[in-house]
Amino acid sequence: MIKGWIKSWFADRYDVDQIEEVIKGQVEKPLPENISWFHTLGSMSLFLFVSQVFTGILLLVYYRPTVHDAFESVKFIMTTTYMGWLFRQVHAWGANLMIIVLFLHMLRTYITGSYKKPRELTWVIGAALFFLTLVFGFTGYLLPWNQLAYWATTVGTEIAGAIPWMGNFIKTLLRGGGAVGGETISRFFVVHVIILPWVLFFLIVAHLFLVRYQGIATMDPVSPGKEPKLKEGVPFFPDHVLKEGIVFFILLGVLITLAILKPFDLGEKADPLQTPFAIKPEWYFLPMYQMIKYFPKLVGIFITSLGPLILVILPFLDRGKERNPFKRPISMMLGIAGLLLLVGLGMLGAVAETKKNFFGKTYEFDIYGIPRLIKANAGSSESLQPPQTPPK
Ligand code: HEM
Repeated sequence: MIKGWIKSWFADRYDVDQIEEVIKGQVEKPLPENISWFHTLGSMSLFLFVSQVFTGILLLVYYRPTVHDAFESVKFIMTTTYMGWLFRQVHAWGANLMIIVLFLHMLRTYITGSYKKPRELTWVIGAALFFLTLVFGFTGYLLPWNQLAYWATTVGTEIAGAIPWMGNFIKTLLRGGGAVGGETISRFFVVHVIILPWVLFFLIVAHLFLVRYQGIATMDPVSPGKEPKLKEGVPFFPDHVLKEGIVFFILLGVLITLAILKPFDLGEKADPLQTPFAIKPEWYFLPMYQMIKYFPKLVGIFITSLGPLILVILPFLDRGKERNPFKRPISMMLGIAGLLLLVGLGMLGAVAETKKNFFGKTYEFDIYGIPRLIKANAGSSESLQPPQTPPK
């Protein structure tokens, strides 16, 4: 009865039948036969974005973006507020999972050649979303104002300072002064809680509009003219929505389990006078950070920025007509090489400046990740002590 009343209220004012028609068309829209479980990764990225906004708003109730209060306010959220610890952990883990899920979504669209005509713009907007999500991570990392955050931001902004001509300007713009301090928190805070969420929101709307408008890509080669409209296939509802629901619950379970069983430690409050040994950025910046070490600063920055640039303009570089991965051996080989490079650099970055035990032997890794045997019959524990001799 209530449904009928609401419907007639709207029907007296709007063309409800037409709106219903549009919604029905979208819900029943056929998807190509090649639609798979991997096609749920886009929606999972959307879920994680929504979760970040939701938990972020809750954290904002108590968070204070000042040098004096930031650390204490996060501590208060974690120890005193109702379920504050859970929301902070879900927010922190959500950020990491969002980067992983986005990367996998990007990988899926790369493998299925979905970036090719006519979906070039969908890819370009997607790539922008990926890089902005990394900026989300970078700006959010500073906000708890702990030692790790302070020094990682100092190093990160220092790297930006090495960019030719405008480096110093960018560094000062980011820091709001000579060193990372109160001005930096304010700026990162504004970018993190106002600018980025809205920019991401509008880009996601544009991305999803294009996906819906053009439909999901088939495995057929790129058509010479306009792509023909798909007449029949797997219905979006209920078939694909069911898959999305299942993956959603699994992801939600993983997110909450990680938040409870592997919580992020708040660590020590930032101390600008105490530089910790071996400062490292977040894991998703490690490949870039490591790459820069192998070259003179300027060359390193130039080479490292080539990767993101190639990624953004990929649809305009790869003009091949085939989408099927088995018919694109060069694309697949380049993709695998890129992936191995990323993982390799990330692993070198992770072990650099640490001591590790392998098969009873202790190795010390220098800043380049090169091991040096220092003890032949060590115990099994890992040590993070500074190396005895400074690396070259
Ligand atoms: C918050 C970020 C993002 C959201 C919410 C999002 C969402 C989606 C959704 C729901 C779909 C349709 C289902 C699917 O294919 O999984 C999709 C398709 C697509 N996305 Fe994303 N995406 C995001 C980021 C990205 C990124 C980083 C890229 C690549 C650089 C990308 C490239 C594409 C492409 C090319 C398609 C078309 C796929 C096809 O037709 O087969 N997206 N996206």
